[in-house]
Amino acid sequence: MGLFFWVRLFSGFLLLLLLQIGNASREDCDFFTGSWFLDQYSYPLYKPATCPFVEREFNCLKNGRPDQIFTQYKWQPHDCDLTRFDGQKFLESYRGKSIMFVGDSLSRNQWQSLTCILHSSVPNTAYNLTRVGDVSIFTFTDYEVKVMLDRNVYLVDVVMESVGRVLKLDSIEGSKLWKGIDMLVFNTWHWWNRRGPTQPWDYMEENKKIFKDMDRMVAFEKALTTWANWVDTNIDPAKVKVFFQGISPSHYNGTNWNEPGVKSCTEQKTPVAGSTYPGGLPPAVVVLKNVLSKMKKSVKLLDITTLSLLRKDGHPSIYGLGGRTGMDCSHWCLAGVPDTWNEILYNLIL
Ligand SMILES: *[C@@H]1O[C@H](CO)[C@@H](O)[C@H](O)[C@H]1NC(C)=O
Ligand SMILES: *[C@@H]1O[C@H](CO)[C@@H](O)[C@H](O)[C@H]1NC(C)=O
Repeated sequence: MGLFFWVRLFSGFLLLLLLQIGNASREDCDFFTGSWFLDQYSYPLYKPATCPFVEREFNCLKNGRPDQIFTQYKWQPHDCDLTRFDGQKFLESYRGKSIMFVGDSLSRNQWQSLTCILHSSVPNTAYNLTRVGDVSIFTFTDYEVKVMLDRNVYLVDVVMESVGRVLKLDSIEGSKLWKGIDMLVFNTWHWWNRRGPTQPWDYMEENKKIFKDMDRMVAFEKALTTWANWVDTNIDPAKVKVFFQGISPSHYNGTNWNEPGVKSCTEQKTPVAGSTYPGGLPPAVVVLKNVLSKMKKSVKLLDITTLSLLRKDGHPSIYGLGGRTGMDCSHWCLAGVPDTWNEILYNLIL
């Protein structure tokens, strides 16, 4: 073996080393690719069933869920480590500022998680939880930090007109509530598939044309585009941080995690091992990423779909709002998976 061989071998090692260092840099770390590990010493971020204002819907242990291990998984990105959520640091750096989640009950899930994380870091500090119209406002009084939730399931408007309730794919008047907020976290998807009595509209409208219905994925894309145009025209990225919460997945079909015949998430006590989900991604993710890719302004996608897909064990199942007769494999128990969404959010704004 000549000198050339050794030089090549050495430079190969050097390159590998440099790549490793490159991977470890935080700015371009992909927080969304990784796997779940049990870490009973560091997780959950707050004691479950002690967050005083967590809604019954997400309070699985209080509702009788016997296993707690689902609260003790840590998300480990492949390329770097997540910095642990420091609630006090967050409140200090957002002093005087406002954060708003806009969307459906999955937004409520993440909003509640964030208020629980923050409250548990300053348990003796005063807070005020009120509601004005569709907006819930959680104020950390001493820090003048407002963490809000605007319930708005489609982002675009539903308007009562003479024909009935009209879902207007190109109208976004609801956006008046989003002005002057320092950080916005949007989400919509789950309601686009509603049909029957719980569908909250009778017609769709675009360009002043009325439709009885249309392909829901097409409608979803049109509404997202309306929202994207609103962000591009109205948001100054130097002043406002904008995130999209991403598509939160459900677990009603065991075929997707290699348990054919299983029809819900009940009795699921462990995450899917590894970093890929056998069932693949929901199609809505493609539509969302396509719309985001065409935007001018920097909206950061909280790309939580895959990491949440792996957590078939994280849903309330029969320990949610519906209790024993319900089956909720769409929302998430708290403490639980949305705490990780928020921990990643924290890492992105550090
Ligand atoms: C909570 O906030 C509401 C709305 O801003 C206000 O009317 C109310 O007085 C506050 N309550 C406390 C206890 O500070
Ligand atoms: C479950 O998923 C599989 C694979 O995608 C599909 O073939 C099957 O029809 C689904 N079952 C139900 C009940 O939706």
